[in-house]
Amino acid sequence: MDKRPIGVFDSGLGGLTVVKELQKLLPNEDIVYFGDTGRVPYGTRSKETINKYALQDIKFLLQKEVKMVIAACGTVSAVLPKDIIKTFDFYYSGVLKPAVQAACVSSQSGRIGVIGTTATIKSGAYGKEIRNIRSDSVVIGNPCPLFVPLVENGFIDSDNQVTRLVAKQYLQPFIENDVDTLILGCTHFPLIKKIIGDIVGDDVTLIDPGKEAARSAAALLTNNNMLNRSETHGKASFYVSDTIESFEQTASVFLRDDVCGQVEKVDIDSL
Ligand code: DGL
Repeated sequence: MDKRPIGVFDSGLGGLTVVKELQKLLPNEDIVYFGDTGRVPYGTRSKETINKYALQDIKFLLQKEVKMVIAACGTVSAVLPKDIIKTFDFYYSGVLKPAVQAACVSSQSGRIGVIGTTATIKSGAYGKEIRNIRSDSVVIGNPCPLFVPLVENGFIDSDNQVTRLVAKQYLQPFIENDVDTLILGCTHFPLIKKIIGDIVGDDVTLIDPGKEAARSAAALLTNNNMLNRSETHGKASFYVSDTIESFEQTASVFLRDDVCGQVEKVDIDSL
C-alpha cells in the first residue's frame, strides 16, 4: 500500500483526460496535476525545448512526493528520449505505448491513423511503435496543431462550428485512406472526441490515450502493490504556470466537477 499521490502533467488541459479516467478507475487515489499553461503549446517547439520543459514538470511533481509520474502528453511521450527515461529512479509512464497497444488490438485491417501535434507526427514515434507490434500495418499520420488552442480556449462543445470546420480539413486524409482505427495521439483531442467521431464516422474506432494511460497506470500500481487502499475518496490538486481562471473554467466543464479554488499557480521556470 502506498498513500502518496499520483503525479500527472501536460502542457495544459489535455492531461485531464488521464485524470478523469484515473478518478473513475482508482477513486481513492490522490492526484497532483500540473498543466504548463504558461508555455502551452509544446507541440510546435523543438525537441530540446520539449525535453527541457518535461524535465522541469517532472521535477515539480517529484517535489510533491508522488509515487509515479504520468506524462499525460503525447508530445512528451513521443519526444523524450529513452536514454533519459532509463535514468529515472521513479515509476514513469507516457501515453504512447498504451494507446498503440490498444490500437493494434482494435484494428482489423491494420490501417491505423494517428493525429497529434506537429512534433509528435514529425517524430514518427507512433508509427515505429505500431510497426513493432504489427509489422503488416499501414500507418497514416496527420498533425492537427490547431486543435490544441481550440481546446485551451474552451471550443469543445460538440456543436462548435469553428472546431468542426478545422476538424473536417484535418481528418479528410483518414477518410480517403480508409483507416479503421484512429489514435488521438494528443491528450487534448479526446476533449473534442464527439466532433472527431462525427466526421470520421462510426466505422472508425477512436483510441483515447488518456483512457489507455490510466488503465496502464492502474495495472502498474496494482502489480507493484502501490495502490492507496484507504477508504476515503482521493483528492486532486491542480497547479498551472499561468492564470488560473480559464483553466478552472474548462477543467470544471470537462471533469464535471467544480475545481474552482483547487488550482494554484507555480513558477515553473525557476526549477
Ligand atoms: N496535450 C499535448 C499532447 O498530448 C500537448 C499539446 C501541445 O502542447 O501542443 O501532445
